[in-house]
Amino acid sequence: MKQRENFGSKLGIIMATAGSALGLGNIYRFPCEAGANGGGAFLIVYLVIALAIGTPLMISEFIIGRRSRSNPIGAFRILTRQGSAWPIVGYLGVGCAFLILAFYTTVAGWTLGYLGKSIAGHFNGQDLAQIQVQFSSFTSHPWWPLVCQLAFLALTAFVVARGVKNGIEKYSKILMPLLLVIMVVLCVKSLTLSGASEGLKFFFSPDFSKINGRVLISALGQSFFSLSIGMGALITYGSYISKQDNMTSSAIGVVLADTLVAVLAGVIIFPAAFSFGIQPEAGASLAFTTLPMVFQQMTGGYFFCLIFFLLLVIATLTSTISLLEVIVAALTEEMHLSRTKAAIVGALGTAVIGVLATLSFRTGSPLHIAGRSFFDLLDHITALYFMPLGGLFIVLFVGWRMKRADAMDELTNSGTLKAGIRKAIYFIIRYIAPLAIAVIFISQLVG
Ligand code: PHE
Repeated sequence: MKQRENFGSKLGIIMATAGSALGLGNIYRFPCEAGANGGGAFLIVYLVIALAIGTPLMISEFIIGRRSRSNPIGAFRILTRQGSAWPIVGYLGVGCAFLILAFYTTVAGWTLGYLGKSIAGHFNGQDLAQIQVQFSSFTSHPWWPLVCQLAFLALTAFVVARGVKNGIEKYSKILMPLLLVIMVVLCVKSLTLSGASEGLKFFFSPDFSKINGRVLISALGQSFFSLSIGMGALITYGSYISKQDNMTSSAIGVVLADTLVAVLAGVIIFPAAFSFGIQPEAGASLAFTTLPMVFQQMTGGYFFCLIFFLLLVIATLTSTISLLEVIVAALTEEMHLSRTKAAIVGALGTAVIGVLATLSFRTGSPLHIAGRSFFDLLDHITALYFMPLGGLFIVLFVGWRMKRADAMDELTNSGTLKAGIRKAIYFIIRYIAPLAIAVIFISQLVG
């Protein structure tokens, strides 16, 4: 077997994992979900789930990946006996990566299109109505969003074909911190808009009567989506982590950074939305109309707008890379394709489904199933079914199928790290996380 690559440093692991985690899930999907599910109530549930279930699940994926040094399918095969059914979880993960990548690149394409628009100054002097029209005409244009989507996929395939250390790791290290800085600047601006306090109230004051099974499963799905867990992306990245690295602290760092960016996105978007009179439930258009409006109100807005969309493209790219990497790792190791071939095959396969997701935004598009656009359908089934089920099986695997000694061996780097807190993490992985995921999952099935 060929030599597998590793991440070069601890910082590299954190940044690459953060690169996977931070993306449209934080800046685009999180405000959409919070807006649709009662604002503050959603935020509280989200925080609890991301920290209490997300972290142990992320660590579980690292354990499986590093122990097996393999892609998700191979990982479950290597860690079990021949003929075991566990590799099915790996197949589901790779399938899930494929479906997510298909609809994710729709919005990824928009970010590229919006970068172009901001360079061309399309938002200069525009009012809200005009910016909203721009959004709908862009997303339902017959070919622009398709061109952008395919370009984005090609870019992703290019980086993935180059490998782990020189592609994924190098860029993530510089760009992730820059994203954070820009977001803080935007936050300050948004908070000083008139009427900002209404938005803050919506986002921060929880109305607990709004919490029901649907909000719980949405928060669970959102946290899994946002943290890139429950489908094998982090099993794959875990397989590149070296034996000396402290996976627990890396995972905690990533979860905190991801949560911070999601909250910042809310603090930027909701005050601005209220200030401009945009409904918090506005969904897809929330990020793509409120943000250009905020930039309109700023000195140097043209410049900030450009930088912001550039960073959004990059944050999105580090996520699409991690999704394609799941498919590529599986194709190279299971089917013995070369990395370049695997990247091309993976991207082309994704393009076929992805194009349908993009076309489903056209007005009057027939690509609707059971009242949902094809895009929504892919988003819905991956976040609400594939990822929770994948996550459930992953914690069950580490907690019950692997030997405790093996799991603790990974957690403590063969006894060189203190066991104390890691025993507690193991306890959560074994008992609390599976129970919580199962309860939330069932609570939505019964309504
Ligand atoms: N976590 C990414 C985001 O928030 C999306 C993603 C999901 C990436 C699953 C990889 C795997 O944008």
